[in-house]
Amino acid sequence: MQSYTVQPASSLRGEISVPGDKSISHRSIMLGSLARGTTTVRGFLRGEDNMATLNAFRLMGVEIVDDGNLLTIAGRGLHGLMEPGDVIDCGNSGTSIRLLTGLLAGQRFFSVLTGDRYLRNRPMKRVVVPLGEMGAIIHGRDGGEKAPLAITGRALMGIDYSSPVASAQVKSALLLAGLYAEGETRVTEPHRSRDHSERMLAHFGAELRVTATGAALTGGQELTGREIVVPGDISSAAFFLVAGLIVPGSELLITGVGVNPTRSGIIDILQTMGGDIQLLNVRELSGEPVADLLVRSSLLKGIEIGGDLVPRAIDEFPVVAIAAAFAEGSTTVRDAKELRVKETDRIAATAANLRLAGVTVVENPDGMIITGRGRLDGCSVDSRGDHRIAMAMLIGGLASSGATTVTDVECIATSFPSFLPLLELVAQR
Ligand code: S3P
Repeated sequence: MQSYTVQPASSLRGEISVPGDKSISHRSIMLGSLARGTTTVRGFLRGEDNMATLNAFRLMGVEIVDDGNLLTIAGRGLHGLMEPGDVIDCGNSGTSIRLLTGLLAGQRFFSVLTGDRYLRNRPMKRVVVPLGEMGAIIHGRDGGEKAPLAITGRALMGIDYSSPVASAQVKSALLLAGLYAEGETRVTEPHRSRDHSERMLAHFGAELRVTATGAALTGGQELTGREIVVPGDISSAAFFLVAGLIVPGSELLITGVGVNPTRSGIIDILQTMGGDIQLLNVRELSGEPVADLLVRSSLLKGIEIGGDLVPRAIDEFPVVAIAAAFAEGSTTVRDAKELRVKETDRIAATAANLRLAGVTVVENPDGMIITGRGRLDGCSVDSRGDHRIAMAMLIGGLASSGATTVTDVECIATSFPSFLPLLELVAQR
């Protein structure tokens, strides 16, 4: 197991770009494979999660050529996938396994999906149950709650599903199954989750009906191959936004970041805390808004976070907690019990790690209360195999009073393989 020690920085300086958006990269492979004709993808994230999706589609007969810059997908049409000759390994990727479960439920073949020990412990009934209502035959451990999942593809029927959780993975799994279902498939959710699937389906020529709380489509629609440019991942940029705010004397420009409103909750949160973040050169790429983000170090204050804002920043709470530790006053996170079923229990992991760095944290079932302290002590913590827990603590380490060591940092490669070199590039010492 590898560990990494980061030393405090005197300031952060420079202009950087972060790798492509993980969610959009997954969907580019999936829709490109189902489309008729060629799809090209520029800016694809070559992290482990996305490579799991890419390998899954290769296993189903899709030709995908990667020249190191551009990805070219020879789309096979809606009914062109072939039965995989082996179990599909989704690694650590919840997006791969849940979206694939929906997509595979309507195929004319049998498939099995599995993943690493963390993924095999995450809840799958949230997709297995509604897909069952559509007629899918899916078996898994623990009554269908846990992977491996065995899927016997068959004809599906559209449903009108009201999801108890705001989850883009649930919504997207059902919309992908809906492409193969008779009639209309409609999903509504308590708060709006990220809408990359809806945007990309429309970009590929599908007709959808999108409302404030859901989306619907009619089965049997053919998709057409397209050019896709993937913006930088705001969830990766988030680490450098917080770093730029908490290390005194910093100024960082992060170029080409996706600022889709269903993802940009982190900017709202940090600006409300008093963070100096400017959106420059706002533009659109392949149906997604993009901007350059200029961040300057700022004095932060504690705030309350809950409701609609939570799904808009769902992956950012480990690093929001770091910002909160440096703020004046306390920060309360509520309505966020989904954090307990991410790559690890992110409420428990964040609270435990911040306490080791000298911060007072109260854990609640659906969130936490962090008492700002203006600094972190140098410490040694474990990532629990979760990339965002690892990166958040290393960011905190840039502004700590001493060295910060994180063990089990290999997991960073799931979403941000260039994170450590980039961090050392901007850190002035
Ligand atoms: C994702 C959706 C989110 C997010 C995950 C990626 C996606 O999960 O946490 O990292 O690409 O659809 P949920 O939709 O389950 O909240």
